[in-house]
Amino acid sequence: MKKERVLTGITTSGTPHLGNYIGAIKPSVVASKNSELDSFFFLADYHALIKNQDPALVRQSTKEIAATWLALGLDTDNSTFYRQSDVPEITELSWILTCLTAKGLMNRAHAYKAAVQANTAEGDDPDKAVTMGLYSYPILMAADILLFNGKQIPVGKDQIQHVEMARDIAQRFNHHYKELFVLPEAVISGDGSVLSGLDGRKMSKSYNNTIPLFLTEKKLQKHINKIKTNLLEPGEPKNPDDSTVFQLWQAFASSEQNQYMREQFAAGIAWGQAKKELFALINEELAPARARYEALMADGQFIEQQLQKGAEKARTQASLLLKQVRLAVGIGAIV
Ligand code: TRP
Repeated sequence: MKKERVLTGITTSGTPHLGNYIGAIKPSVVASKNSELDSFFFLADYHALIKNQDPALVRQSTKEIAATWLALGLDTDNSTFYRQSDVPEITELSWILTCLTAKGLMNRAHAYKAAVQANTAEGDDPDKAVTMGLYSYPILMAADILLFNGKQIPVGKDQIQHVEMARDIAQRFNHHYKELFVLPEAVISGDGSVLSGLDGRKMSKSYNNTIPLFLTEKKLQKHINKIKTNLLEPGEPKNPDDSTVFQLWQAFASSEQNQYMREQFAAGIAWGQAKKELFALINEELAPARARYEALMADGQFIEQQLQKGAEKARTQASLLLKQVRLAVGIGAIV
């Protein structure tokens, strides 16, 4: 039986935080070890250039995200783990797809529309600071997916539209040229819930409210202490369901541990104590990977070697399909 192909990427424009870990990285590590799946995981470094034009930051983030995946035990033999820019076939396909993607489709992309809306609200030129990279972002993402015949695409809710656009683009190609592409489907990664950050809003780099994944113990404790809580005193019953502390607990806890903390909340656990226990729970899960992460970051050789191995596997696949695509659209040798 043919294995299901799962494919997903992470944009290398920041330091991974607990929200990324719970929502995307942890489920991908589990999938990488599943022998019934044929998984592709990659560092979307060309996507990073859209948001980030600081070369040192892009390089650092690429290393951090690769080290994170490896430290958490991503199985790079059972899956294909690579850096987008090591597979030039992706950007080549991206141009071919650009030529058959309707501008109107891109006009509807959320990320672009949000930028235009923000500019308009400010009374600025609607296209202020909108690059062609931001505008065509979904086409590069379509190339990422279609080149490997990705079928299940685990993403956060904000990326569903992009996967649907990839599907539209694939259909257009298949209809106009030749049935070469599998139609991808978005699957919501993890349990679909979004983790809250220090201030209670969605944990996100743009809100500056994240808890980075691999902090030292001391800094992790410090961050957890900064989580916003209400003013209820020790002894006063607390509602777990509107508490960021409890939500984080739930993301790391077993069902017994969940039940235990619900009872503690009902019994009026002090916020300081709840945070102390939360720190211990998270730290227990992350400590072994943290040590591996630090070793990987100190010597990038192993990371690079893994990425080269992945690039080779990915390119072997990619070049086969790209060859057919080039042929189908009329590009290539005359004789
Ligand atoms: N755009 C995705 C994000 O920012 C990352 C990404 C790039 C991706 N290419 C992809 C995800 C292909 C899934 C499939 O989260």
